[in-house]
Amino acid sequence: MTTETETAPRTTNGSGQPLLSVEDLRVAFHTDDGVVHAVDGISYSLEAGKTLGIVGESGSGKTVSSLTMLGLTRSKRSKIQGRIMFQGEDMVALEDNRLRRVRGNDVSMIFQDPLSALHPFYKVGTQLIEAMQAHRSISKSAARNRAAELLELVGIPDPKRRVDQYPHEFSGGMRQRAMIAMALANEPKLLIADEPTTALDVTVQAQILSLLQDLQQRLGTAIIIITHDLGVVAEIADDICVMYAGRIVERGSAEEIFHSPQHPYTWGLLSSIPRLDNPRDEELVPISGRPPSLINRPSGCHFHPRCPYVRDAHKRVDPQLSPVDGSTEHVVACLLESSVRSRIWDGIQSGRDAESLQRMAAASAEPDYSNVAIPVDQESEGSALSPGEEGVVESEAPGERHGAAPPQTLDEVNRRFQEERNPPSGGDGPGPGGG
Ligand SMILES: Nc1ncnc2c1ncn2[C@@H]1O[C@H](COP(=O)(O)OP(=O)(O)OP(=O)(O)O)[C@@H](O)[C@H]1O
Ligand code: SF4
Ligand SMILES: [Mg+2]
Repeated sequence: MTTETETAPRTTNGSGQPLLSVEDLRVAFHTDDGVVHAVDGISYSLEAGKTLGIVGESGSGKTVSSLTMLGLTRSKRSKIQGRIMFQGEDMVALEDNRLRRVRGNDVSMIFQDPLSALHPFYKVGTQLIEAMQAHRSISKSAARNRAAELLELVGIPDPKRRVDQYPHEFSGGMRQRAMIAMALANEPKLLIADEPTTALDVTVQAQILSLLQDLQQRLGTAIIIITHDLGVVAEIADDICVMYAGRIVERGSAEEIFHSPQHPYTWGLLSSIPRLDNPRDEELVPISGRPPSLINRPSGCHFHPRCPYVRDAHKRVDPQLSPVDGSTEHVVACLLESSVRSRIWDGIQSGRDAESLQRMAAASAEPDYSNVAIPVDQESEGSALSPGEEGVVESEAPGERHGAAPPQTLDEVNRRFQEERNPPSGGDGPGPGGG
């Protein structure tokens, strides 16, 4: 297993605990096809006022790891292990009531799909007002004024008129801003932004990112930005976690990830984004192959079927995250020698052809792995959760408390969360009492 027991995650400058510390978090879902290992032993930490980028392709576990922080993956079909320490409390073990108080107040999330998170039947202002009133005693008129202020803060023109509009009357970019306003309503200490700029054009993307930076400076909020695009976090993140198949395969400062990346998957991500500092007129290279099944994961290094530098032993031995030379914070899970990785990365940057790069890996000396055993969990892929293991945290998903079926999609999870936060008693929608 790629765990980080040997390498402690980044902590504060010695003055105490970080704001957030995720420790060996694992989230598995029981499905009819087998157990989906959506998050498999990830660890990281985040200090107040800093930004962490979580980057990886679709299905790498980015959203699930963040929803778990808010208790939104709890169900009878999920198994959650590890700790998420936030302000001294473990969010994994926190009781429902306490978790609800933290959610939307100290921690907020900008959901991946703003349409599913903004209720279509309620005016944007009403949803903002309810988000505030759910957590503090504030009069409706004061909350309404603050709702308009928040819309103004996120750059929505004519905010006093806009508070009385419905989400469908907002453009995509404005809905994204309204979601940010909603997430900021209670001045959270931690803001999780899940793909906050996907589906927006490049100009609006840049505006949203600079808005987040600006708000962070003003409010001191810590931010987690989730994205599949390393380019998005290039300017804004202090630290970056690269996720593959439910694990962190490389973690370091943005400087380390962009200037001395160590994992072949990170190289792939970097080669697939345009870089202004790239002197050559080089074509962008997508990573070949597809992300693996999280039920039947590849043996050994999970990236091996797609890795151009794979050696035989890598198909059998599962690499642990370990420190990169000269850095206490930069860690990588790759079995190649660090000097070989450096040579390959230099070769990539200087435009060497793929075959000669692969020859560098093939010619490198390999340690003797003959005594390394295949981890047990890889031999039992696809097995069901054993009896008694199911629902480590039970009855927490909003629908389940009412005996409803567990949510089947993340959109549904988001919608239920939103309904829970904004129960349909607001009365300004087109239904009874609304208009
Ligand atoms: N409730 C669930 N039951 C079963 N599998 C799930 C559930 N929720 C998520 N998954 C699976 O967990 C894996 C990780 O999903 P997640 O949504 O975290 O990916 P992601 O990295 O956010 O991807 P994307 O970039 O597409 O948003 C996926 O394989 C997904 O299908
Ligand atoms: S361990 Fe081998 S297969 Fe895995 S990323 Fe490193 S070089 Fe590639
Ligand atoms: Mg996602």
